[in-house]
Amino acid sequence: MNSKNKNAREKIGAIGICGGAAFALSATSMDTRIKAVVSVAIIDMSQLARQVPDKDLIQNMKKKLSLQRWVDAEKGTPECKVNYPEDKPTDEIPDGLQPLWQEFFAFYGLERGWHKNATHSLTTASNLVFLNAELIRYIDEISPRPVLFITGDKDLTMPITNDIFEKAAEPKEKIVVEWAQHIDFYDNTNNIIPFDKIKEFFTKNLK
Ligand SMILES: *[C@@H]1O[C@H](CO)[C@@H](O)[C@H](O)[C@H]1NC(C)=O
Repeated sequence: MNSKNKNAREKIGAIGICGGAAFALSATSMDTRIKAVVSVAIIDMSQLARQVPDKDLIQNMKKKLSLQRWVDAEKGTPECKVNYPEDKPTDEIPDGLQPLWQEFFAFYGLERGWHKNATHSLTTASNLVFLNAELIRYIDEISPRPVLFITGDKDLTMPITNDIFEKAAEPKEKIVVEWAQHIDFYDNTNNIIPFDKIKEFFTKNLK
């Protein structure tokens, strides 16, 4: 291996947004080649899957999703529920959605983020895998490598960032961007995504 490649191997950083942030933290906690990691507006899908009031519901969910695997195998394609209009974006957010789902709809369902390939949910059965994934279980093992958390003061997922920030070991840092909603971190490059801070973080930590 030439020295240029060798040097590049010492400069691997990871960045994840929304659900991807939990995957980035999970990968970093086990793969020590990753030297620094940035979490942007994190949502932990594995935590979300278990966010039900009691154990009976978990057991019922397991039964239902396990059987869904037979259905998917028989059909040859996995079920993915339709979340957003399939033909074209709409300009109305449906009534009755939870606040965070309203926000997702304001992105994926409207002109702003609508794409014909992104109108469906995850495979229905994928929640089964998330039930025992515990993506951030070993987050403290990222230390002594640094973690930068980014959230926004209008980000409905800020409590998730705060909670996971507490679980992370030092060195860790948190930036709260003014006026930023969760979905701003997807596409709002207009003074919302702190590229300068991210660049500074990676420049400093990937030497
Ligand atoms: C959308 O899906 C089609 C069909 O699978 C594929 O050919 C196309 O590349 C996809 N578009 C994007 C932007 O990924």
